Amino acid sequence: MAVVTSKEMFKKAYEGGYAIGAFNVNNMEIIQGITEAAKEVNAPIILQVSAGARKYANHTYLMKLIEAAVIETGLPICVHLDHGDSFELCKSCIDGGFSSVMFDGSHYSFEDNIKFTKQVVEYAHDRGVVVEGELGRLAGIEDAVNVSAADASYTRPEEVEEFVARTGVDSLAIAIGTSHGAFKFKPGQKPQLRFDILEEVGKRLPGFPIVLHGASSVIPEYVKMINENGGAMPDAIGIPEDMLRRAAKMAVCKINIDSDLRLVMTATIRKYLSEHPDHFDPRQYLKPARENLKELVKHKIINVLGCDGKAQ
Ligand code: G3H
Ligand code: 13P
Ligand code: ZN
Repeated sequence: MAVVTSKEMFKKAYEGGYAIGAFNVNNMEIIQGITEAAKEVNAPIILQVSAGARKYANHTYLMKLIEAAVIETGLPICVHLDHGDSFELCKSCIDGGFSSVMFDGSHYSFEDNIKFTKQVVEYAHDRGVVVEGELGRLAGIEDAVNVSAADASYTRPEEVEEFVARTGVDSLAIAIGTSHGAFKFKPGQKPQLRFDILEEVGKRLPGFPIVLHGASSVIPEYVKMINENGGAMPDAIGIPEDMLRRAAKMAVCKINIDSDLRLVMTATIRKYLSEHPDHFDPRQYLKPARENLKELVKHKIINVLGCDGKAQ
């Protein structure tokens, strides 16, 4: 099996009231941990690569590692560009074998977002690649771009039909109160998402797959483990898992998770090295990190996304 698009995955997810996990990858251990988890619970999976990850690991290395995962697991795996910010970047990923790209034009005017997204869609569709667009702007940090809460904006449901019709996108990321990174809410603040916006978007775009970015739960156990082993992370609050489960039962078909993977890896490595201060073979600490990441992804698939058993 080769890499696949998310088309079939989203169709089944929409109908089945579950979501597909889109996990960010940038090295072998992360790719192995995610895909081994998916294999064990027979789940379809999206591996996504940011511009920063592609710069760090190199396109060909990542593509070959993902192809290895397809061979090893036999699973349907979609390879997706996360937050593409230019036509050239999207084109390069499409030409290099990605089956899906996101064009993130959320910081442009409505008209420019449509214009640039449509250009990517035309190039992608001619080559059998699917495209995710974005309307509304999430707060938080992505690729060293820090969007303040003041600059963030919720998606306006009255714009979604026109955006989808004029661009031809295959899925749409919306902003309902999630944000990128580990610090999604202020200490003491109660996490809240605008389910009313999601519901309205779902009504206006029946059957159409919606994407939720910034969906890490920032599992306290791992923040604690980091801080107990020499780290100094301030209070970090993520999206409660029951809210993600609720979104997955609605129109949300793709849930993006990166920060939780970073936390579990860092926490495990910190703990390992404080317990074994004389060890210096990377395999010794990367092995438990990969194992814990795998367990975390299994937990997400079964308890949050609900896509276990859905790979065909
Ligand atoms: O949405 C952003 C992802 O977490 C990727 O982060 O750009 O630092 O690789 P990155
Ligand atoms: P988190 O930072 O919440 O993991 O979000 C990741 C994401 O949205 C990648 O596009
Ligand atoms: Zn994102």
